[in-house]
Amino acid sequence: MTEDVFKAQLNTSNFNDFKVGWRSPSNIALVKYWGKKPIQIPANASLSFTLSESCTSTEVQFSLADSPSFDLVFEGKAKPSFHPKIQDFLDRISPYCSFLGAYHLSIDTSNSFPHSSGIASSASAMAALALSICSLEKELGGLQDEGLFFQKASFLSRLGSGSACRSVQGPMMSWGVHPELNNSSDLYGSVFKEKLQDVFKSYKDSILLVHKGQKSVSSTAGHDLMKGHIFAQSRFEQAQIHLTQLKSVLQNGDLEHFIRIVESEALSLHAMMMSSHPYYILMQPNTLAILHSVMRFRQETKIPLCFTLDAGANVHLLYPESFERQILPFIEQELSLFCEHGAFLSDAVGNGSQKIV
Ligand code: PMV
Repeated sequence: MTEDVFKAQLNTSNFNDFKVGWRSPSNIALVKYWGKKPIQIPANASLSFTLSESCTSTEVQFSLADSPSFDLVFEGKAKPSFHPKIQDFLDRISPYCSFLGAYHLSIDTSNSFPHSSGIASSASAMAALALSICSLEKELGGLQDEGLFFQKASFLSRLGSGSACRSVQGPMMSWGVHPELNNSSDLYGSVFKEKLQDVFKSYKDSILLVHKGQKSVSSTAGHDLMKGHIFAQSRFEQAQIHLTQLKSVLQNGDLEHFIRIVESEALSLHAMMMSSHPYYILMQPNTLAILHSVMRFRQETKIPLCFTLDAGANVHLLYPESFERQILPFIEQELSLFCEHGAFLSDAVGNGSQKIV
């Protein structure tokens, strides 16, 4: 399939004002995407849990206008600092959504998680905006096929922020061509259609907010660090192998192996940052304290609690729902002491984006 399939041909006589809204979740990668080719083509395949609570809700009023434009309200206030990113996104998707040239977009958006919590909102935000644009295209007579609707929404999300393409549906999505995933593509994320043990459908993710400030390296700059990285090729191969292994684990429910893959992915991601030029240490001392505590807790209790990390200091704790009663007191009494103001978020695997307007 080429990108041309996503170029909309619409009958302009259908054009009208239209309002729509979508609520899109964040996602947490088990096999990480780190390194890309132009434009937003991943260097390796990745696989993530779609979350259910950490979401962006976006409503868009599309009004017919002489030339394309937009305004944006974030959590009730104008937010000019978001404009360049939205403008870049609209410019990048314009070859696929030429109908947007006839509209002014009034975008009203908010996050379910606290602002500056260190939780990246670009995945949920780009997915909610892309879905709203696809709803307009559907209203205008395009994207009548549901499969194509979500494929295009994921395709557009990817052009906004790579990992956003995995926030459109749930409970798990892959992105990037992988020989063992039939429907995988570099252009958009696909629902993980292989057999999935029930335990993973309700997996918990407690997000420990170790450091709420800005990340010291943006994700764009971070991906660029993989260009010419001495370990890049081995890292891309490792991710492909991990994905093959994870596919079996998701089918057979081997939690020990799940933990080995997921933690190795998180540490490999950070190892890439620590061994690039320039190099970055995105973990904080409290991040490391949490990782050690989690490994000790697991050894002592035999409870299958594991960690993963994004490109920052916060820690995602992943565990089966059935162990929540034992794990929550451990988080509240021990791990939250390592979090800024003791803050953590409770999340879980979810079913993807929902239309709200
Ligand atoms: O989508 P981006 O460009 O913000 O990159 C996300 C990269 C990681 O979160 C570190 C890994 C991933 O696969 O989500």
